[in-house]
Amino acid sequence: MDNIKVTIVDREGKEHELDAPTDMGMSIMELCKAYELPVEGTCGGMALCASCHVYLLSDHILPEQSDDELAMLDSAFFVKPNSRLGCQIKLKDELDGLKLELAPV
Ligand code: FES
Repeated sequence: MDNIKVTIVDREGKEHELDAPTDMGMSIMELCKAYELPVEGTCGGMALCASCHVYLLSDHILPEQSDDELAMLDSAFFVKPNSRLGCQIKLKDELDGLKLELAPV
């Protein structure tokens, strides 16, 4: 599989079904930027800014959070138990059907 479907709910509640390539090492943050969704990605994916903060809505099992991700979320706003950093989620075949919501800024 070279493309999966990822649904992003934007901050107005609108759903965007995106075609996501799994063979480019791309992250959710980069995917959102490619589709011009309002994700800043200020730190370039270093888990240092939380501008890519998303909530996991589907029941996919994501890779464990790194210490850097946990530390960043610790100091971010609007954090929930299903919070993740989009830049730390790499697109993979097993994430087909993934659904995420953009956190408020
Ligand atoms: Fe900065 Fe994800 S882009 S933490």
